Amino acid sequence: MDYLQITGGAKLSGSIKISGAKNSALPIIAATILSDKPVKLTNLPNVVDIRTLLKLLDILGSRVEHKDTVANINNGTMNSTKAVYEIVSQMRASILVLGPLLARFGECEVSLPGGCAIGQRPIDLHLKAMEAMGATIEIKGGYVRAEAPNGLQGAKIVFDKITVGGTENTLMAAALAHGTTTIVNAAKEPEIVQLCEMLADAGVKIDGIGTSEIVVEGTGQKPLTFKDVEIIPDRIEAGTYLCAAAITNSTITLEKVNPAHIEASIDKLEAMGCSFEIEGEKITISGTSRLKPISLVTTEYPGFPTDMQAQFMAVATMAIGESVIEERLFENRFMHVSELNRLGADIWLKGSVAAVKPVAQLYGADVMATDLRASSALVLAGLVAKGVTNVHRIYHLDRGYDNLEGKLSALGAKIKRLSE
Ligand code: EPZ
Repeated sequence: MDYLQITGGAKLSGSIKISGAKNSALPIIAATILSDKPVKLTNLPNVVDIRTLLKLLDILGSRVEHKDTVANINNGTMNSTKAVYEIVSQMRASILVLGPLLARFGECEVSLPGGCAIGQRPIDLHLKAMEAMGATIEIKGGYVRAEAPNGLQGAKIVFDKITVGGTENTLMAAALAHGTTTIVNAAKEPEIVQLCEMLADAGVKIDGIGTSEIVVEGTGQKPLTFKDVEIIPDRIEAGTYLCAAAITNSTITLEKVNPAHIEASIDKLEAMGCSFEIEGEKITISGTSRLKPISLVTTEYPGFPTDMQAQFMAVATMAIGESVIEERLFENRFMHVSELNRLGADIWLKGSVAAVKPVAQLYGADVMATDLRASSALVLAGLVAKGVTNVHRIYHLDRGYDNLEGKLSALGAKIKRLSE
């Protein structure tokens, strides 16, 4: 198993290119199932989760050619609608094939994803939406079996909680349904917008893109023909590097970002004393030697993202004063707290609120990555910890960060990948 060894204290400088967004690429790969013609995706991040979903398509009989950042997918040869446990257990986002498989083939079986480190993460809202669109759902032997032999019917879906994946599954199902589907309380993340645009470019009539009420006219089971899709920049990867500059008091430039997508992170870092120069797709951040404490609450887009909570907590350990961080989306997304405390942080947890007390210095130690973003928070802390930090179990990082150690090394960090 690989681990990352970081020798703290190096200042960062220079510029790096941000990769395509994992969380946009995953639903877009799933959406290709709505077509029986070839489709080309570009700017894919080189991360394990993308390879896992492409492997699932391959198992379902599709033809997939994948090299670097480009995938050519032909789902015309698909001959199975069963998303097997071996793949879904590796990656919860595989549940995103439920809507498109059901919409195109009128039936599918998808292994139940189960819980994960950050929380229980049920899929009840996905299933309710499919049922409202006329599907019969049965759960048996660890699989969701869904059937709609005459195709899905448009319906009014009111989500009682905002769900990114639930909105994506419903959008994909609605695209091939008979009639009109209205999604109320839809998620508004940039990843949802890109999925809507991909469907709209294929001729699906969609109103309300980027709002909390989306109306989709289905094609009545007629498969779509997609144009090439270039994946949008990864806003969480970009935010993580902004935090790397903030925690090390450095000046770095990020290229190929969409500044509008990371406003919440930029606002918080500005409040902490960092400064920004933004020009088109380029952001330059300069840190400060006197980081101010912050107060933040995670919420749905355009609010502060839960996927940046752990990284900001790492930065807050270096602030002059006490920060307060509340996690509202996932019940167990504080696994990094005890590991940051192993590095000398002074963080106290009460329910969903963490108080981050100031410490003069973090000290290198062996720490364990527990989930994707928690892992990147430990790497950030390692960049300023005195001495050597070894971050173990980095397979979590490899699921979602494209060449993290390569990009940080390019910025001057002392970081290397080693084998246990
Ligand atoms: C997406 O997960 C992201 N994953 C997550 O990123 C991200 O943390 C999350 O959205 C929130 O922004 C991908 O896009 C692949 P949700 P998703 O459905 O879709 C509850 C990362 O680090 N809920 O919006 O699974 C759920 O438990 C990952 O890259 C239900 O109760 O998140 C949570 O509390 C981790 N029932 C809340 O809704 C359901 O049926 C929001 O979850 C579905 C969700």
